[in-house]
Amino acid sequence: MVGTAALAGVSVVAAPSAAAAPDGRAVVPPMGFNNWNSTHCRAEFDEAMVKGIADLFVSKGLKAAGYQYVNLDDCWALPARDAAGNLVADPVRFPHGIKAVADYVHGKGLKFGIYSSAGTKTCNTAGFPGGLDHERQDANLFASFGVDYLKYDNCNNQGVDARKRYTDMADALRATGRPIVYSICDWGQNKVWEWAAPIAHLWRTTGDISDNWSSMIGIAHRNQPLAPYAGPGHWNDPDMLEVGNGGMTATEYRTHFTLWSMMSAPLLIGTDLRKASAETLSILSNADVIAVDQDPLGRQGTVVANNSGLVVMVKELADGDRAVSLTNETGSTATISTTADALGIANRGPYRLKDLWTKVASTNTTGTFGASVPAHGTVAYRITPGPAPLPPAGTSHLSDLPWTGMLNGWGPVEKDRSNGERAAGDGRALTIDGTVYAKGLGAHAVGTLTYHLGARCTGLTVDVGVDDESTSTGAVAFLIYRDETKVADSGVMTTSDGAKTLTADLTGGRTLTLAVTDGGNGIDHDHADWAAPRLTCV
Ligand code: GLA
Repeated sequence: MVGTAALAGVSVVAAPSAAAAPDGRAVVPPMGFNNWNSTHCRAEFDEAMVKGIADLFVSKGLKAAGYQYVNLDDCWALPARDAAGNLVADPVRFPHGIKAVADYVHGKGLKFGIYSSAGTKTCNTAGFPGGLDHERQDANLFASFGVDYLKYDNCNNQGVDARKRYTDMADALRATGRPIVYSICDWGQNKVWEWAAPIAHLWRTTGDISDNWSSMIGIAHRNQPLAPYAGPGHWNDPDMLEVGNGGMTATEYRTHFTLWSMMSAPLLIGTDLRKASAETLSILSNADVIAVDQDPLGRQGTVVANNSGLVVMVKELADGDRAVSLTNETGSTATISTTADALGIANRGPYRLKDLWTKVASTNTTGTFGASVPAHGTVAYRITPGPAPLPPAGTSHLSDLPWTGMLNGWGPVEKDRSNGERAAGDGRALTIDGTVYAKGLGAHAVGTLTYHLGARCTGLTVDVGVDDESTSTGAVAFLIYRDETKVADSGVMTTSDGAKTLTADLTGGRTLTLAVTDGGNGIDHDHADWAAPRLTCV
């Protein structure tokens, strides 16, 4: 199984397993707490709150459920540095300093996080000096506090190039020698997902969340298409949780929590747990939903259908199960359904299902999964398919066989069509440099397609190229993996290249993965055709 870790932003792809989380940090999305959504800069953000949260993490079972980081946001410091140029903790909020709080959090077996901005000042008007041009000094101070996690914001950045600002702090953190999870908060500007994986563990993909349905679901919509960029050690961050803050119904908060888990988002509690209701705690403690978020495969779920606000997402899990969410974004109850084929588990019944919220277990033999879903609600299942069927003996067109996993830059991969970027079936005839192909797969960078071989196949022959419908910047590389081993590589191809024929030795392989990179220049116009792919098996 090949992750997309290294497929974004680079033209040459390193061995996928080595590229994932090279420093071993944030191999699953971070879980914890951050005060911002509940307190902003108000006075209740103080030492007592932070210690109280750490206490509740232990006493309410949240630590046992996986919550680990207790993080400070803006307004922990005074508006001016001291004579030596160091940031100074606000003595009213934190009378014993930051290290004392960090020690307390560590004493509970938890981790501690802090906040700053890649600018001259942080975001709030009552905020404090930012890290721009003070990266080494501030990183050293954070390390001396015992910081395990830094959220680094974007305010007052003076127009300095984002890549430089965020890389300077990454370098400074690394130079401290302390393992610190690095969270970029540039609000999804500067296409951060295309370049930040080598320097950061997570990056915000949108502006700030607010505690209401339209903000939450709008952020989900912007984060969903970014799935190909996430993986172990480098996550999309659609912002912190609002669960429990009062602006949404319990049904809407369950949707929020489920979607964040389907998207492999960090789960940072944003409510004051000292005042949380039993219902809030039960949402935040749902072990089955948390397991979807924390799944070690680290695949962000993707939207497989959006029928006028009836949205189906699927997330492939490490044990071969699929997590599926059926979200009703409309204002009235509706039936939402999907199929085993759409989920990448065709012909693998009977299917075992567990409802992640009601906990009801059932068996499905039809391969059609549906439920009545209330307005703004989500029904979610973990589906366990039977064994994958073996590919037939002889030579088959790959587009006639079911894939077991699919990630695609835009819309679904098309069978015997080019990539139309949106709904299933919306492409055109596959065409490379004037040659039209009746059979093949229409992909869009960045992505992967996975097939089960069961050690039965010997080889794949395929013509690859950028589809003629792509213009200007279309550039991709086509890679073929037998299990974790790269067995063919087209190099970067552009719109002016004719088709190249790739042949791959698949002997003994359990899994075939077809991967498409962005050619090093982003994914715009990257319509990638796998034309006439012929798989030979015995
Ligand atoms: C920005 C960030 C928020 C929060 C505030 C603090 O708006 O995006 O998440 O950190 O700053 O001022």
